[in-house]
Amino acid sequence: MNKPIGILDSGVGGLTIWREIVKELPNESTIYIADSKNCPYGIKTAEEIYNLAKRLAAFLVTQDVKLIVLACNTITVSCLDKLREEFKDVPIIGTVPVIKTASELTKNKKIGILSTSATSKSKYQKDLIEKFAGNCQVINIGTAKLARSIERGENVSLVLKNELKPFLETGVDTLVLGCSHFPLIKDQIQSILKDVQVLDSGAAIARQVKRVLEKENMRSKTKPNHNFYTTGDVKLFNKILSQSLEYNGEAESVIL
Ligand code: DGL
Repeated sequence: MNKPIGILDSGVGGLTIWREIVKELPNESTIYIADSKNCPYGIKTAEEIYNLAKRLAAFLVTQDVKLIVLACNTITVSCLDKLREEFKDVPIIGTVPVIKTASELTKNKKIGILSTSATSKSKYQKDLIEKFAGNCQVINIGTAKLARSIERGENVSLVLKNELKPFLETGVDTLVLGCSHFPLIKDQIQSILKDVQVLDSGAAIARQVKRVLEKENMRSKTKPNHNFYTTGDVKLFNKILSQSLEYNGEAESVIL
């Protein structure tokens, strides 16, 4: 089935998941939509997040996508089930932090999770921690500032030092990035948390997308095409796409 895969996020962060999907599934076309105008979602209420996410999903449905990836932890933990209920005809895959993997890899049983405020406070994330990392000490930090600064292409080094302090103080040996924006600054995180293994969800989500397409018999065999849309600043989007993702694409502006 040669329809594209639809990928949505509150902004540019989900491009880190888009990159893994394109790597895992090189014949698949994609349509990516970033709601940069309304980013950050991580400080909004569940109701606000749902209303915004619903518009992004509806846009992808009008583009005739065969599957939707919520490349955003905040959207996933807030309203994955509601979106599945609303858009019954399209399979929807969410993104969650790889807490299970972290609990298998940690040696000292001390895990850090860095996500947005909404994600860190959510029942969804607390349940994941209890289910998979009940035998570990988990430092679950929600940050209000990082995603917004990354979205705006600002220098995050000062903010980052502060946000990572609790992980240094506790001595976690494994850190889970629970927001799709954070892999964009993975090198900076790693340079502060030198001996910590830093994990993100991108590759796991890409494998999940592949499994679903195969199960539903939806794989494409044609030459792929990648389209990008943003509700925010097109130039900023293109800059992050070329500098951080090393991909030269031109986003189109969209008003939802
Ligand atoms: N990138 C999103 C996530 O994975 C949220 C960033 C934001 O808009 O706050 O959680």
